[in-house]
Amino acid sequence: MKTAESNLTSRQRFLAACRGEPLDTPPLWIMRQAGRYLPEYRKLKWKHGFLTMVKTPELATEVTLQPIRRFGFDAAILFSDILVIPEAMGQPYHFRDEGGIGMDFPIRSKDDIDRLDTSGIRERLDYVPGALKLLKRELDGKTALLGFAGSPWTLATYMVEGGSSTHFEKLKELFYGNRALFETLMEKITEAVVNYYRMQVEAGVDAVQIFDSWGGACAGGDYEAASLKWLRRILREIGEAVPVILYAKGLHHRIDELAKAGPQVISVDWTADLGHLRDTLKKPVALQGNLDPVLLNTTPGIVRQETGKILDAMKGYSGGHIFNLGHGILPTARIENVEAIVETVRRS
Ligand code: CP3
Repeated sequence: MKTAESNLTSRQRFLAACRGEPLDTPPLWIMRQAGRYLPEYRKLKWKHGFLTMVKTPELATEVTLQPIRRFGFDAAILFSDILVIPEAMGQPYHFRDEGGIGMDFPIRSKDDIDRLDTSGIRERLDYVPGALKLLKRELDGKTALLGFAGSPWTLATYMVEGGSSTHFEKLKELFYGNRALFETLMEKITEAVVNYYRMQVEAGVDAVQIFDSWGGACAGGDYEAASLKWLRRILREIGEAVPVILYAKGLHHRIDELAKAGPQVISVDWTADLGHLRDTLKKPVALQGNLDPVLLNTTPGIVRQETGKILDAMKGYSGGHIFNLGHGILPTARIENVEAIVETVRRS
C-alpha cells in the first residue's frame, strides 16, 4: 500500500529519511554521481579540465545537474572534490598520469604545517557558494542539495603522504612519532573544514556528507584519536544546522560508536551486511548504502537482483534508509546498470 509519501518532493523524501522516518521507497543518489562514466561529463572535461570545472560555478552547476537530468536522483551533490581544502590552504594537487592524485609537495614538518594558511579559505573557495546558489535556483526546492568535505584524517592522508597512498606510512609515522605535531595539523584542517561547511550551510545546502574514506585504515584502538575525535568536533559545530551523513569506509563494525558521535545518517560501504547491521544496532540510526560499485560493470539483471536484496534487507527498518552505492561510481560503470538501480528502487 502506497501512502501519502508519493505527494512529497524528492527533497522532502530525502530529508524525511535523514530524520529517520521510514518510507515505502528509499530516496536514491549515488556517490560520485557525476564523472567519467557519463559521455556528457567526458565531453565537458575534455574541453575544460577537472579543476576548471570545479572552480567555475556555471560549469560545476552543469556537471552537478547532468546525472540529475539523466536519472532523476533525489539528491544532487555539488560537483567538487575533497582536495579543494588543502588547495585553498596553499597545497595544490594534480592528477597523476598513472592514476590517482599527487599533491604538488607533501606536508611533513612543523614549517610545512605553519605555512598552511587557513585565513583566506573563504575567499579562495568563493566559487563553492557561487555554484551552490546557482544550483539552488535550478533545483527549485524539488531535489535535495548536498554539500560535502573530507574528514580531517582522510584529508591528512593525501596531505602528508603527498597523494593517493596504500599504507599511509608517513601519516602513521607522524601520528605515532610526534603526536603534538599531528594534532597541530589536525587542528588546522578541522578549522578549515568547519569553515568550509559553514559556507555551504550559508549558501543553502539541505544536508552535508563527511567522507571518512580512509578512517578504516587506523589501528582499532586508535580510531578515536586519529579520526573520530576530529569528526566529533565538526559534528558539534555544524550538526544542528543541517543533517550530516557520515561516510565511514571499513568501519561498520564500529557503527554504535559512530552513531554516538551524532551524525543523522551513517553511510556504509558494500562490505556491510545491511540486514545484519539493522538488527544488531544498539539504537536505530538512518543508514545509507550500500551496493558494491563494481556491480555496475556487470549486467542490468545482476544489478536488479543485488539492488533488490538490499531493498529487502532494509524493508520495514524503523531508522530510515537512503539507497546509495557503497563507494564512488567507477569510470567503467555502464549507464544501463545505473538505470537498472533507479528502476528497481523506484518500483520497490
Ligand atoms: O559524489 C559526487 O558526485 C560529488 C563529487 C565528488 C568528487 N570527488 C568528484 C570527483 C566527491 C564527493 C568526491 C570526493 C572525493 N574526492 C573523495 C572522498 C570520497 C571517496 O571516493 O573516497 C576523495 C578521496 C577524493 C579525492 C579524489 N578525487 C580521488 C582519489 C580521485 C580519483 C583519482 C583517479 O585517478 O581516479 C578524484 C577525482 C574525482 N573527483 C573525479 C570526480 C568526478 C574523477 C575525475 C575525472 O577523472 O574526471
